Amino acid sequence: MPVITCVEDLRVLAKQRVPRMFYEYTDSGSWTESTYRANEADFQGIKLRQRVAVNMDDRSTATTMVGEAVRMPVALAPTGLAGMQHADGEILAARAAKAFGIPFTLSTMSICSIEDVAQGTGHHPFWFQLYMMRDRDFMVRLMGRARDAGCPVLVLTLDLQVIGQRHKDIKNGLTAPPKPTLANLLNLMTKPRWCLGMAQTRRHGFGNLIGHAKGVSDMSSLGAWTREQFDPTLSWADIDWVRRQWPGKLILKGIQDVADARLALNSGADAMIVSNHGGRQLDGAESSIRALPAIVDAVGDRIEVHMDGGIRSGQDVLKAWALGARGTYIGRAFLYGLGAMGETGVRKALELIHNELDITMAFTGHTQIGQVDKGILIAP
Ligand SMILES: Cc1cc2nc3c(=O)[nH]c(=O)nc-3n(C[C@H](O)[C@H](O)[C@H](O)COP(=O)(O)O)c2cc1C
Repeated sequence: MPVITCVEDLRVLAKQRVPRMFYEYTDSGSWTESTYRANEADFQGIKLRQRVAVNMDDRSTATTMVGEAVRMPVALAPTGLAGMQHADGEILAARAAKAFGIPFTLSTMSICSIEDVAQGTGHHPFWFQLYMMRDRDFMVRLMGRARDAGCPVLVLTLDLQVIGQRHKDIKNGLTAPPKPTLANLLNLMTKPRWCLGMAQTRRHGFGNLIGHAKGVSDMSSLGAWTREQFDPTLSWADIDWVRRQWPGKLILKGIQDVADARLALNSGADAMIVSNHGGRQLDGAESSIRALPAIVDAVGDRIEVHMDGGIRSGQDVLKAWALGARGTYIGRAFLYGLGAMGETGVRKALELIHNELDITMAFTGHTQIGQVDKGILIAP
């Protein structure tokens, strides 16, 4: 068993253990992947001020996100098909998040259903992510199911009404479950752990949709579902409609532009997430960490601004916090842990990120994350 010391180690192990089509579904961006790369790379350009001879004892990274206590300002991002990275993946990730003390966000496009996750976590509250779909009745039913499961927060994703092309998914013929083609069978033969796990669960398709949604030609295909069901006419009036339907907290995900941030501020949402969907949608968009400061400047004193995209370490979390993000989300960092080692792997990812965050905060001369601000950064 390799010694795991960073998220990159989890990625390498996940690549060995997860079937190629699902590993590559995670480790990819759209078209040239320039935004995917920039999300990570732009964190490296931000430099920290090292301080010494400051009392570094008794530290805490605890804070709140939309009023919920969190052990660090990190939540698990909604990710489709997590239950294909590892059998029962969403349940395992939700358990790891619960044990660690941060929120788990379940994607509409999950393998385990809302009800599966509620049951699998002993009805511990989790967040639910929704897309704007043509079938408004189906949306209402999904929101009702999320409410019945005790979800306190709805994350409405705004940046995937049309889907950005990811070359690898097309080449791999991505479906859940995989089709029994010769190429898939040969690849699956090299992933015995994954196959064993899948043989022991009945959760192999889109749990929130199968048996609940109508009018989709291929229930196994993410691409077909998106093209047929997602509503390309989405407008701020529709967001207003969701606000009126959902009684809990509402977070808008996929804001990259100051103009949209101002509109989001007036939408009645409780928070917004500066996000480019992990570089999976508009290739050529600015990295999230670059887009963040202008949005914080414009609206950060009136609404909680969160961000995601490219976070692979606790140092990245601290930099985002210093630039004004009052919460962050990790997608791939937890998916690599999940693919590598299931629930243990997600916990490992969270522990690594927490340790990096805590130690980096100490090096910059702080003991409480609430006191960390732009002052820890070297001005560019
Ligand atoms: C494999 C994968 C699947 C995703 N599926 C969804 C989804 O179903 N809904 C959603 O709002 N965002 C989805 N996202 C975007 C994430 O919520 C998040 O914005 C992104 O992963 C952040 O970037 P990071 O992976 O670099 O942390 C997905 C991302 C990945 C990597």
